[in-house]
Amino acid sequence: MAAVGVASTEQYNYDIVRKFTIMALVWGAVGMLVGVYIASELAWPFLNFDLAYITFGRLRPVHTGAVIFGFGGSALFATSYYVVQRTCQTRLFGDGMASFTFWGWQAIIVLAAISYVLGYSQGREYAEMEWPIDLLIEIVWVTYLIVFVATIMKRKQPHIYVANWFYLSFILATALLHTFNNLAVPVSLFSMKSYSLFAGTQDAMTQWWYGHNAVGFFLTAAFLGMMYYFVPKQAGRPIYSYRLSIVHFWALSFLYMWVGAHHLHWTALPDWTSTLAATFSIMLLLPSWGGMINGIMTLSGAWDKLRTDPIMRFMIVALSFYGMSTFEGPMMSLKDVNALSHYTDWTVGHVHSGALGWVAMISFGSLYHLIPKLWDTKMYSEKLIGIHFWLATIGVLLYITAMWISGIMQGLMWRAFDDFGNLQYSFVESVAAMHPFYAMRAIGGMFFLTGMLIMVFNAFMTIRQAKREGSAFALNPAKAAA
Ligand code: HEM
Ligand code: HEM
Repeated sequence: MAAVGVASTEQYNYDIVRKFTIMALVWGAVGMLVGVYIASELAWPFLNFDLAYITFGRLRPVHTGAVIFGFGGSALFATSYYVVQRTCQTRLFGDGMASFTFWGWQAIIVLAAISYVLGYSQGREYAEMEWPIDLLIEIVWVTYLIVFVATIMKRKQPHIYVANWFYLSFILATALLHTFNNLAVPVSLFSMKSYSLFAGTQDAMTQWWYGHNAVGFFLTAAFLGMMYYFVPKQAGRPIYSYRLSIVHFWALSFLYMWVGAHHLHWTALPDWTSTLAATFSIMLLLPSWGGMINGIMTLSGAWDKLRTDPIMRFMIVALSFYGMSTFEGPMMSLKDVNALSHYTDWTVGHVHSGALGWVAMISFGSLYHLIPKLWDTKMYSEKLIGIHFWLATIGVLLYITAMWISGIMQGLMWRAFDDFGNLQYSFVESVAAMHPFYAMRAIGGMFFLTGMLIMVFNAFMTIRQAKREGSAFALNPAKAAA
């Protein structure tokens, strides 16, 4: 076992994968803890404690930044670096450059969080970082692109496995989106403040072109790359249809780019733009479900695994949530549905059925598959994986049910008129009506967070166990040997 370990360590750069894996777990715990805190602030506002630094407005981007870029981003770096090496049967290109992406990416998340707490923000959702941090992202991201592409170019396997296609489209699209959405003029060289190059409707269009493609390429395509490698691996079967995966890839990449304007229905945008976005959103249902079916059907003939394998359960539930949120999304993009759902918690519920149900669950499954391989040992406790699975599933269900009820209720209350044509409810009445559901969401979040903390504990104990066993994969081989 140890001999195989040594050979693999030389053949592949696992060190970088291990580092990103650990940070995915750390950011997952931090980001979700902040998520639970801001959810609690909405339910019990005294938690703001009249302290500007921890108000909901400042902590919210800390949450989104930590979970999307810290947790999701680190999980994507880890798995993409692992998958590209394994499927190309070659070592990662440029150890130093890969290491730079690690330290650079972690610095970005920390700097972003500090700047939000201090009150710096571009006011663009998911792109709140001010210009110096944006420049750092640009450099780190181009380095990531070089490492990834150069590894593919020196592959020993003629074929480029489809997971790499998804990862590559995510890297390229993110570079494009980040660059154009952050075109801004700093007030001065020594000021953190900048103004966007765009104004008015163009500004909104650019932001939501970015915003939805961040969903499409960061939160979807990249995690599909993860799915296409780890689901067949865990199931021990080839992907159901390779042809379908190629159709899935091209259809998804083509369609996502057009849908951003569905975030701006009933605004100053030309009506045709909004109709176009809705049309492409409906079309997106097909490749999305094609991908989901491809993942789920990979298990055909091995369904019994679901009874015994909690990692497989994470993956199948993730795919089910992927299917559910990509059904809900196209429905919400219809102008009449959006007239009710927009500005309400229904959107927040949709976000988290994708973010918790799909993104987090597929990451948990993949990382549980990966951790024992990286440290050349077994997971410390299979039972804890099972407990994590149930806590996470109950947590998502509580979260999204609360948000559906609260969101639809908000929408209906805001548009209700009395017999005299006046608004039937004041805004504050709708806020009071939401209170129980905000409490329910916070409790759902606590379930989800507890599961995450159990995973951190399980991973920590696994690494300790690897060190005790003297595994060549242990984080600090010198110490392990001693
Ligand atoms: C313990 C788990 C979590 C809790 C309790 C939680 C809670 C929250 C809360 C309270 C908000 C603010 C909603 C509002 O503005 O009304 C929010 C926003 C958001 N969260 Fe989470 N969150 C969790 C996990 C995650 C994860 C894992 C992701 C992504 C992978 C995520 C992505 C987002 C996004 C994208 C938004 C912005 C939503 C929007 O603008 O509609 N969250 N979250
Ligand atoms: C076919 C796929 C999808 C379509 C057509 C779609 C459509 C939509 C629509 C119409 C909205 C509401 C826009 C508004 O009223 O402002 C929305 C919001 C959102 N969706 Fe989706 N969705 C899809 C899949 C997903 C998935 C899989 C995720 C997460 C992994 C996701 C994450 C989000 C986020 C983060 C927002 C909130 C943006 C914000 O206001 O901050 N969506 N989506």
